[in-house]
Amino acid sequence: MAIRRVLRMGHPLLRERARPLRPDEIRSEATRRLVDDMLDTLDDYGGIGLAAPQVGESLRLAIVRIPGGPTRYGELAPFPLTVFVNPEIEILDERRAGYWEGCLSVPGLRGYVERPQHIRVRYTELNGAERNLECEGFHATVFQHEFDHLDGVLYVDRLADTRLLAFEREFERWQLDVARD
Ligand code: NI
Repeated sequence: MAIRRVLRMGHPLLRERARPLRPDEIRSEATRRLVDDMLDTLDDYGGIGLAAPQVGESLRLAIVRIPGGPTRYGELAPFPLTVFVNPEIEILDERRAGYWEGCLSVPGLRGYVERPQHIRVRYTELNGAERNLECEGFHATVFQHEFDHLDGVLYVDRLADTRLLAFEREFERWQLDVARD
């Protein structure tokens, strides 16, 4: 078990395009150890997703685990811990919805980002199996956020309006929200 340091915005590795894992790497002991470290790190820092570049590994790998129940995003459907290797997103419906996103690499801030809400994800599991997942709503936002990290993109790059970026304390203090149609 090892908790890794999460790189913060400004570290150049967060801006690189990560490379895919080769088939022989996917089932390797090194990849297994990296995933274990990422889990420990996610548990320690708190959060619902973590991408390998955030712990200094420029590889196309991310983990997501969404606890169910009431959160600051409203009532969420849980999503069990899943490891995504070499994920690819296909947008099934361009219609967008926005959420106030946060990121362990951009600590203390929240920003409002609108993204397509119906996507398909193709990815490889740690055992090498190819998988296909269709999802909507908040889950679609989470996957796009995590997989953006693999292309060197942070959510702050996608703010519709820079006025919709706030420190967490002010965000809660002023109950910031966005007028919705
Ligand atoms: Ni992030």
